[in-house]
Amino acid sequence: MSEVKRNCAGVIECGKVAWRIHCVPMDKNRTEGSAVFEKTVLPPPCGMHRLSVAPMMDWTDRHCRYLHRLLTRHTLLYTEMVTTGALLHGDVPRHLQYNTQEHPLALQLGGSEPADLAHCARLGQEWGYDEINLNCGCPSERVQRGAFGACLMHEATLVADCVKAMVDVVDVPVTVKHRIGIDKNEDYTFVRDFVGTVAQAGCQVFIVHARNAWLKGLSPKENREVPPLRYDTVYQLKKDFPHLTIAINGGITQTAQIAKHLQHVDGAMLGREAYHNPWWLSAWDEAFYGAAPFTGSRESVELQMVAYMEDQARLHGTPWPTIARHMLGLRHGLPGARRWRQVWSDHKLKDRPPRAVLALAHAPAVV
Ligand SMILES: Cc1cc2nc3c(=O)[nH]c(=O)nc-3n(C[C@H](O)[C@H](O)[C@H](O)COP(=O)(O)O)c2cc1C
Repeated sequence: MSEVKRNCAGVIECGKVAWRIHCVPMDKNRTEGSAVFEKTVLPPPCGMHRLSVAPMMDWTDRHCRYLHRLLTRHTLLYTEMVTTGALLHGDVPRHLQYNTQEHPLALQLGGSEPADLAHCARLGQEWGYDEINLNCGCPSERVQRGAFGACLMHEATLVADCVKAMVDVVDVPVTVKHRIGIDKNEDYTFVRDFVGTVAQAGCQVFIVHARNAWLKGLSPKENREVPPLRYDTVYQLKKDFPHLTIAINGGITQTAQIAKHLQHVDGAMLGREAYHNPWWLSAWDEAFYGAAPFTGSRESVELQMVAYMEDQARLHGTPWPTIARHMLGLRHGLPGARRWRQVWSDHKLKDRPPRAVLALAHAPAVV
């Protein structure tokens, strides 16, 4: 797309879209002139990927993200992976609906057909997502049968085609989440060339799970634990591609670890620890975005979740356990956490109103 504007110079930015000047035919007094502007996509605002909560199937649904957003204003949140098949043939609102409070919010897609991904990326943009992410890191056999996820790392040119197809139709950033290698191949040039090829297609943000994916013989769960973490490989990517945004992922469980990684790369993505210990998120805005300290308490967050459960029941008939399951780690490490957690996960209480369950969860234990 190109258009002519008058009396402009340089690259001008409008939201996430920019117009780069192609030629500036000024008159000789430089008082009047016009320029041909080409629409281009600017790199995402610096810091958008500083911290993020990882995409996690069955975990980071919109209810989970609502909880996370109560705890951190700035952290980027990711959806679970949504396959192109699900969006092309399934119930689009079911997969793409979210609460407006969840921004900044990235949609993760799974697929390997450029045209399908372009269609789904456009849908994602229309639904208001702030980023479209392509999954090139999932090792599950089901995903391999669909020829996407981590096995796509063997096909950097195809991933580049997928990225280009998406970049061509959306203004929001298109990013890639991937591993550092496949099977036992620990040759750095493999991931370096993957990133180099995909970057040329217009991806400027890479979220790197610092482990190989072993495509045979390990379950997805084992693939998050057994292949060794090699953070130095991710640091090396940042050294070799200083102009790209590189975020690191895998095995990070403490604030001090995040701080250490941020000395080497642009961002850290947190997965399991963020899910199991959501209160951790309440420290992040102050520690990593220079924001004021979090003023809420676990109890105030729990109360807001109860109000949310009431709303969701009224609006969509959502049973409270569908939402409460994501907050079971909220009192992680506190005395009485086990009993509190048992009440909120007791399905025998599912017909009681959530406010009654709240009262039970905080009632003194009967000995
Ligand atoms: C239950 C579960 C589901 C996951 N689903 C996805 C997914 O849909 N897409 C994806 O890219 N990664 C997925 N992952 C991997 C995480 O995004 C992340 O890369 C991994 O857990 C390593 O980070 P961590 O050590 O901080 O947990 C999943 C992880 C878990 C635990």
